[in-house]
Amino acid sequence: MCGIFGITGTTEPLGAILAGLESLEYRGYDSAGVAFFDAGSGELRVVRVAELTHSVEKLRSMVADAPAITGAVIGHTRWATHGAPTERNAHPHVDCTGNVAIVHNGIIENHRELAEALLANGHVLASDTDTEVIAHLVEAELAGGQGLREAVRRSMAILRGDFALAIVALVEPDAIVVARRTSPIVIGRTENSGLVASDIAALVGATRELYLLGDDEIAEIRPGSVEACDLAGNPVELRRLEVTWSVADAKKDGYDDFMSKEIHEQPHAIAQTLLGRITGDGETEIEELTIPPAKLASYRRVLFLGCGSSYHAALVGRQSVETWGKIHADADISSEFRYRLSVVGPETLVVAVSQSGETVDSLHAIREARRRGAGVITVSNVVDSVMARESDGVCYTHAGPEIGVASTKCHTAQLALLQVLALHIARARGTIDEAEARVVADGLESAAALVGQAVARAATYMDVARRFATVDDVYFLGRRSGLPIAMEGALKLKELAYVRAEAYPAGEMKHGPISLIKPGVVVLVVATRTGLWEKVMANVEEMRARGATIVAIADDGDDETAGLVDAVLAIPSTLELLTPIVAAVPNQCFAYAIARARGNDVDRPRNLAKVVTVE
Ligand code: M6R
Repeated sequence: MCGIFGITGTTEPLGAILAGLESLEYRGYDSAGVAFFDAGSGELRVVRVAELTHSVEKLRSMVADAPAITGAVIGHTRWATHGAPTERNAHPHVDCTGNVAIVHNGIIENHRELAEALLANGHVLASDTDTEVIAHLVEAELAGGQGLREAVRRSMAILRGDFALAIVALVEPDAIVVARRTSPIVIGRTENSGLVASDIAALVGATRELYLLGDDEIAEIRPGSVEACDLAGNPVELRRLEVTWSVADAKKDGYDDFMSKEIHEQPHAIAQTLLGRITGDGETEIEELTIPPAKLASYRRVLFLGCGSSYHAALVGRQSVETWGKIHADADISSEFRYRLSVVGPETLVVAVSQSGETVDSLHAIREARRRGAGVITVSNVVDSVMARESDGVCYTHAGPEIGVASTKCHTAQLALLQVLALHIARARGTIDEAEARVVADGLESAAALVGQAVARAATYMDVARRFATVDDVYFLGRRSGLPIAMEGALKLKELAYVRAEAYPAGEMKHGPISLIKPGVVVLVVATRTGLWEKVMANVEEMRARGATIVAIADDGDDETAGLVDAVLAIPSTLELLTPIVAAVPNQCFAYAIARARGNDVDRPRNLAKVVTVE
């Protein structure tokens, strides 16, 4: 979480910083700040603000009358981890002299012991953050006569945790020194300037000459030049980044918010993701997946990992691999897998699903899996993401940048790609016959169009949803492939509308939770004809009998289901294992409309950040 942006060598640095921070707000938005050098006095100035969801906007007004600026500027938009979201804890943080400023994304795990040592040496800490210690460590190194890059390198050597840092100091006002361990940093260069940001999208408007900083590397960015070294001080060559996104991809294009834009982009995102993956005779092609079919066929077990919506996509991938690949398959939540004694070894193929490719729980989970000898494939929307680089194989969704905190187009693109991967594995194993493979391939080829049909009904879904705008309790029920659909629906409603929502296997309700069903409770059930429909409807009857209001995701033209429930969100029919792709749309619209009706910010829901780079 947290967004970092820095620039050196331009005449209008504050404008660039504010625009950069705005594009990074999806990473956190509870406070923001900038540090710059006053051209008149030469002094380092810091401006910080904590304004919950509108910090960068407030920062813009606060720096409107800023003095002329010289040298490098760094900025930050925060998602609080250590210390409340207050002005005092907002970044940048400074050292005792006020001549060093730092912005940071991640967590310094040994900050307490470092703070104790610093306090014992007479430093004064002014915030509750883990970040501030770094400014003081650098201060001490600079006082010992080191240059800025060397001071940061020496300080970094004693830090524990995952972090990305950008630091400026009065001793070298043109330079920004950046460093990273696990958390991402992208560096940009033009002839006369140097830039740094937490992601590619924040930089593509300024330059397409982008570089990735490796783990435990430190770079010194000056106008027109970048030099990097490793933790031991040896020079390193930075890797040039292939840029596939344009600036237009990250704009709202006339939509009220990014979420509605991204809901409407889903047919395109799915079509782009599936482009070239299915060949005419039902065969699969995943160009970037360099693991050969024979190796794929050699695994005895497939374990899908992910967090949040990506975990729900993983659950669907698990079912598909099990069904078509006839292989033992599981899905686990990354943060749980990492700390459990899971039986994973060289016989296991791990498929990690992560839109950002930098979710720290998933990153550590794949590191752990590889440590135990498993093969790892990452499914990511970000080319060259940290997880992609640390995997044996990679599959990319091509959904374009997703800015809304709630995952929409990336989730459905993941679902589509996981089906291709499942088919690919099944073909490699020889466990799916030609006819069935062709049916799945045909289904996938129609997925974008079916999602398009669902998206065209967004207004209808939202009309239904608004009838339930004041509801307090919603149960999302489903069976088999309907369960991950229900789980995703509940997550969307919770994170966007702040409504208590629980997903449950429909058949399991009678083993306990049914005691919570009473008049006023809404039950949203996945009741498509492909997924154990009769059993699901029997479970629905049990809910109705206790007074629940029933909303069903049902197939187009299914009058029988419509007659048994209070409201219907109708979707075009498809194969059972492809239904989660289409059914995601009414789920998204349901949560979106209730959130909007309650006055919530759908792009920036409270307490959340798009990319979760802390444990
Ligand atoms: O970048 P990732 O796919 O790894 O992110 C995983 C979750 O944090 C993410 O899906 C989250 O649950 C979304 N806000 C859901 O809408």
